[in-house]
Amino acid sequence: MRIAITCALCFVLAGCDGCQGPQGDPGAQGSPGATGAPGSPGDPGDPGAPGQNGNPGDPGLPGDAGPPGSSIGDVSVHLVDADTRADVAGALLTAEPGAITATTDLSGRATFTGLPIGMYRFTASAPSLVVEANVVFEDLDVGVSSGWVSLVADATVDVKLKLARIDRDEMNLVALHTGGSPGYTLANCHACHNDRADELSQDPAEPPFHALATHNTSGCTLCHASVELPTHSGATVRKQVAVTLCDGCHANYPNSFP
Ligand code: HEC
Ligand code: HEC
Ligand code: HEC
Repeated sequence: MRIAITCALCFVLAGCDGCQGPQGDPGAQGSPGATGAPGSPGDPGDPGAPGQNGNPGDPGLPGDAGPPGSSIGDVSVHLVDADTRADVAGALLTAEPGAITATTDLSGRATFTGLPIGMYRFTASAPSLVVEANVVFEDLDVGVSSGWVSLVADATVDVKLKLARIDRDEMNLVALHTGGSPGYTLANCHACHNDRADELSQDPAEPPFHALATHNTSGCTLCHASVELPTHSGATVRKQVAVTLCDGCHANYPNSFP
């Protein structure tokens, strides 16, 4: 009705060639909408790498004090007769330093117990001992010293002392080896050379001469009627063993042995 009225009015005012005009174009596209609201927060990240090692702990407390260290030991001394190898009973033993004394028992032994650790020297003296018949230097006290013995904590050290019939510091070796001199006795040979029963041979196939039973029991002075000690004397053989002696026992050699 309104269009008709308008149209009628137009018709009235401007003349009227047609009637109703074509429909207008569609409106322009609208502008984009406003920016959306921010998204929701993301998921939490992965856990981080492990941290660095911590600093070392404080030092521990000191331990309790240990038991007191031992500073003593024992020395067992065995005194034998160098010639007969018999135990020497009733001899006075002295440990130096300290001048500690002990007396040997029937087995020739005495033990020094609880000695402070250190270096010791032991002497045996038996002035009242009668050391058999063939004592050479009768006026000398019978006595002998050990070398220095080292005693460590908690140890038992064995010391063997040999009581010899002669004083080796005060003798003339050349005179002693001279046949017929007062010192030229079997006991003295044993005192210095021992009885040679434990002599070893360099060639196991050859028995050691002196250790052969019969030779060993024959006695040194039988074969060694004298010994020439000075080495450059030239004129004499140092070991003066007469072959005729061998003959006495080995008379039938080589037909039969010995
Ligand atoms: C005081 C200790 C002592 C007495 C005692 C002793 N000797 Fe000797 N004898 C020695 C010494 C040390 C030597 C080595 C000397 C040397 O080489 O210069 C030796 C050397 C010898 C040698 C020579 C060894 C060689 O290689 O040539 C004969 C053999 C010997 N004695 C036999 C005897 C006889 C036998 C007796 C007993 C009668 C005897 N001795 C007593 C200490 C002694
Ligand atoms: C059966 C005889 C005989 C008797 C016993 C004997 N000897 Fe000999 N001894 C010899 C002869 C032989 C030699 C030389 C051997 C050689 O030079 O290879 C010798 C060598 C030695 C030597 C020098 C060589 C070595 O082994 O060092 C000594 C030291 C010695 N005798 C000591 C003694 C003593 C100490 C005794 C007593 C325990 C003794 N002899 C008993 C015969 C004997
Ligand atoms: C007192 C006697 C006696 C006298 C001295 C003696 N011998 Fe002998 N000898 C023996 C007898 C016994 C044997 C055998 C082993 C034993 O019974 O001891 C022997 C063993 C030996 C052997 C060992 C042989 C082997 O291969 O087993 C020889 C080497 C030897 N005598 C050499 C001598 C010489 C060298 C002398 C002189 C310096 C000598 N003997 C003086 C008794 C003697």
